[in-house]
Amino acid sequence: MKWKEVKMKTIKVCMGSACFAKGNFENLEFIKQYIKENNLDTEVTIVGSLCENKCELGPRIIVDDTEYTNVSKDDITKILGK
Ligand code: FES
Repeated sequence: MKWKEVKMKTIKVCMGSACFAKGNFENLEFIKQYIKENNLDTEVTIVGSLCENKCELGPRIIVDDTEYTNVSKDDITKILGK
């Protein structure tokens, strides 16, 4: 029997009030739907974060160690497609 090693990706979605109001509520729903439709739920973990005082850059999403700012649904499709 061979084990397949799967490296989990972590998507951190800022749920602070500014990022939330600027679009991260919709972005979070979009990410969850994208993961479900593409059967990525064993490869991706979604976590929320509190405000990190970078509100002017929001909505913010961090994938592993890479930060994305002013994120739209189009951006998410590109990010998750990588
Ligand atoms: S609410 Fe996201 S950085 Fe402040």
